[in-house]
Amino acid sequence: MLVHTIKDVREKVKEWKKEGLVIGVVPTMGALHDGHASLIKKAVEKCDRVIVSVFVNPIQFGPSEDYDKYPRTLEADVKLAEGLGADIIFAPTPDEMYGEGQRLSNDTLTYVAPPFFYVNKLCGKSRVGHFDGVCTVVMKLFNITQADYGFFGQKDAQQLIILRKMVNDLNVPIELIGCPIVREDSGLALSSRNKYLDEQGKKDALALSMILNNIKACYDKGVNNISALKETAFSFLTEAHELEYLEFVDKDTLEDKETADNNTLVLIACRVQGVRLIDNILL
Ligand code: PAJ
Repeated sequence: MLVHTIKDVREKVKEWKKEGLVIGVVPTMGALHDGHASLIKKAVEKCDRVIVSVFVNPIQFGPSEDYDKYPRTLEADVKLAEGLGADIIFAPTPDEMYGEGQRLSNDTLTYVAPPFFYVNKLCGKSRVGHFDGVCTVVMKLFNITQADYGFFGQKDAQQLIILRKMVNDLNVPIELIGCPIVREDSGLALSSRNKYLDEQGKKDALALSMILNNIKACYDKGVNNISALKETAFSFLTEAHELEYLEFVDKDTLEDKETADNNTLVLIACRVQGVRLIDNILL
């Protein structure tokens, strides 16, 4: 069932809670692909009722980012989510989420701001304010849906770590379930932003997963020196790639690693054809 208002979601949730049903929420920005589908499937397996939100959240986009051109495919999204067993597809307008005519800034709106240590690195460094926008909208979705479980992809590893920190620090009564990265056969991690790439761009984008796989292969052979592991990446990069970061951090705390070990998460962000792509692998 496609629902556009908070009130309608709350009414359904109230009924479900009365029946003692377990509720799952899968927050998305739509343009659903098999990565999102894997989250929805997991949610349907684990929960009695599943709410998939489809909302391109304006407050997590920077002024020069792709908010306006972000792909919007609601009709297909509803079909896909319902086909997988979702009970509600919640697709609010920005006015519904933030109040009509509300100025979307933290001068006027209550924000959930994650700690500086977690946002001042990796994607947060170039996307200032991004994770404030993510935490704020996700907290709202948790409050609106009263879900018992929230489903998130490991694809956005920093996002998942920050959301776990938020849930822990603010005692939010929900359990977060992390789901593995879904990839094309080529290795390319699925992303709604892959739609911006042409054939050549998709080929060039393979460098991200190739770099990560290569680093893991070297680590598995016994190399744990991070400079040496980073060095192996450069043979995959051409003038088609604009590397933003390649970092080795602790998988739970995001602290920088001095040497690689089994708790090390390797994350990469790189622009191809102007499109910002991210990927990661656990060693
Ligand atoms: P979006 O990019 O639409 O992603 C929604 C969820 O799908 C996220 O948890 C993301 O990690 C997961 N996902 C995306 N690609 C995936 C893949 N290839 N494999 C597995 N999971 C994948 O992330 C957001 O939206 C927003 O920031 C949101 C959390 C909805 C807040 O607005």
